[in-house]
Amino acid sequence: MNLKEIKIKAKNEIVKARSLKELNEIYKKYLGKKREITRIFSSLKKLSEGERKKLGKEANLVKREVEEMIKEKSKQLQEKLRKQKIEKEKIDVTRPGKKLEVGHLHPLTHVQREVLEIFQSMGFSVVLGPELETEWYNFDALNIPKDHPARDMWDTFWLQPESQMSNVKSQKFLLRTHTSPVQIRYMEKHNPPLRIVVPGRCFRHEATDASHEIQFYQLEGLMVDENVSAANFRAVIEEFLRRFFKTPIEIRLRPSYFPFTEPSFEVDVRREKEKWIEMMGAGMVHPKVFEAAGLNPKEWQGFAFGVGLDRLAMLRYKINDIRLFYSGDLRFLNQF
Ligand code: PHE
Repeated sequence: MNLKEIKIKAKNEIVKARSLKELNEIYKKYLGKKREITRIFSSLKKLSEGERKKLGKEANLVKREVEEMIKEKSKQLQEKLRKQKIEKEKIDVTRPGKKLEVGHLHPLTHVQREVLEIFQSMGFSVVLGPELETEWYNFDALNIPKDHPARDMWDTFWLQPESQMSNVKSQKFLLRTHTSPVQIRYMEKHNPPLRIVVPGRCFRHEATDASHEIQFYQLEGLMVDENVSAANFRAVIEEFLRRFFKTPIEIRLRPSYFPFTEPSFEVDVRREKEKWIEMMGAGMVHPKVFEAAGLNPKEWQGFAFGVGLDRLAMLRYKINDIRLFYSGDLRFLNQF
C-alpha cells in the first residue's frame, strides 16, 4: 500500500469508528509500532538520499494528518458520550412524582358503612357488643335454654374452661354465633323507646364452602316501643333494601322459627325480574327476651332482625364466594 492508499483507508475507518475503543484500535493499526505508516518509515533506509527525503516528508505529513483526524474524531466521540451522559442524568423537575400507595377499605367495611348510614338516617343508633360472649347472652337470655333442640341452629365455638377468668367460672364462654346477644345487653341498660343496629363479627363452627365461613359479619336491628308492629318492620326493611340496592325491589315475609321472636319470619327480596333471594331472619321480640332483659313484655313491643353483611356485599359486588373476604388475597382486595 502506498501512502495515499493508507491515508484514504485510515480516513474511512476513522469516519466509521463508533467508539473510543474502536478509534484506539485504528490508532494502533496505523500509527503504532510495526504498523502501516511506521512500516513506511522503516523502509526509507533502503532508498536513495533524495527519495528518502521526499517520501519521508510525505510520510510525516500523512502521519500528522491521520493523527489529526483521530484527535478530531476522538473529541467528537467524547462530546457525544458527554451528551449521552447528560441526557441520561437529566432530571425533569416538572414530572409528577410517584403516586403513594394508599391503603383502601375492605369491601365489607364499605358495605357496613353504607348500611349503617342508611339506618342512622332512619333514627337508629349504632351499638357494639363483644365477640367473646357468655352462654347466657348468646343463648339462654334469647330463650334458647340448654338441651333445647334450637341450639343446634348455631354450631358453636366454645372456649376451654381453663382459659376462663377464675372469678366467672360459673359461666361458659363462646364466640358469639350471632349479634342477637347485644339485644339483651342493650335493653338491660336502656329503656325503650329504642332503635339500634349492631354490626359485628360472628363465628360458627361449621364446614366452609362458597356460602359458609366460620366467621362472617351480621347486622342486628332492634326497635322497641309501645306500639311497634310487623308492619313497621316491613316498612323499615323495605326502605333499607330499596336504598341499599338503589333499584325498585319487592320483599316478602315467610313464616319461620327463631326462639327469640314470635312470630318469626324470613325476609326474601327480589330485584326487578330477578329471582327471590333469602335475605334475613326477623320477627317480633319474644316476651321471654324482654323478661330476660328486665323489661315488661306487657308494656313493650318490638321487632328484631339479623342480616348478613357478607351476603349484602356479595350481592352488591357480584362475589360468588364468601371465603374471598377473609383470604387476604391482594388480587381480590385491590379491586375495591
Ligand atoms: N340471630 C339470628 C341468626 O343469626 C337472626 C335473627 C335476628 C332472627 C333477629 C330474628 C331476629 O340466625
